[in-house]
Amino acid sequence: MSVSIRRSLPADAPAIAAIAEKTLGEPFDQDRIGGLLTSGRNYSLVALEARGILAFADNFITVSQTGAQRLELDLLAVEPKAQGMGIGRRLIAESLLLARELDVPLLRALVRSENLVMRRLCASSGFAISERSYDLYVASPGPGSNSPLDIKGTHLVPVETFAYSGIWIEGSLTRAGILQALSVAATRQMGRVGALVAESDRVPVQLLADNGFQGLGTYDWWTLKLKSG
Ligand SMILES: CC(C)(COP(=O)(O)OP(=O)(O)OC[C@H]1O[C@@H](n2cnc3c(N)ncnc32)[C@H](O)[C@@H]1OP(=O)(O)O)[C@@H](O)C(=O)NCCC(=O)NCCS
Repeated sequence: MSVSIRRSLPADAPAIAAIAEKTLGEPFDQDRIGGLLTSGRNYSLVALEARGILAFADNFITVSQTGAQRLELDLLAVEPKAQGMGIGRRLIAESLLLARELDVPLLRALVRSENLVMRRLCASSGFAISERSYDLYVASPGPGSNSPLDIKGTHLVPVETFAYSGIWIEGSLTRAGILQALSVAATRQMGRVGALVAESDRVPVQLLADNGFQGLGTYDWWTLKLKSG
């Protein structure tokens, strides 16, 4: 089977949504994906053969608290009948090339700790795993949250993924920061706020639970630093 890889086009949205639904087990909105591909804000790739699209990877850039850019390998999925043929590995390699072209010094992926295939793929593609695992908490912001001004130490990262518009909370997980994230997300009509908590850190877990967050499971960051020069 001859498989090629190219940047995704808006017309690829139905095939991407179908593969995402089949492999990730949740509904995906093809209009949302088509809109993101039309806007050009995501760096998305598809792998295809003569009969159609077999796999996709979606990447986008975020900025850290210290101003460093990261290319987020947010979603990677291969049609079940085409898995185990090296397509996932090729999409990761192409994402790395994208990071180089964009001059972004870091490619990273948040991977569910129990996803052994993806862990193995990241490890053999040169990624390093975070020293500790994190529990992922998410909330769906409702209207009318109060918005304190002080969010010192808390970094809010707006994201547009194929699955949702949302905010990732980075830096200190304070009550003020969490409320600010919920408020900003509600104002911008974003569907999800996410936060990662080190497994050993119980205080933020209570803060998140008090503000309507629910645990989605345990994850690790896999990061690949690009060599400069
Ligand atoms: C994870 C995923 C993207 C990997 O893509 P893939 O094209 O199947 O992977 P590759 O063929 O490039 O193989 C990568 C490695 O995983 C191994 N592998 C692939 N499928 C496997 C399976 N079902 N069971 C065990 N190992 C498997 C390969 O043997 C290879 O191992 P190696 O590095 O030791 O040679 C794909 O399985 C998938 O779409 N999974 C569901 C969605 C998902 O979990 N996405 C990641 C998080 S968003």
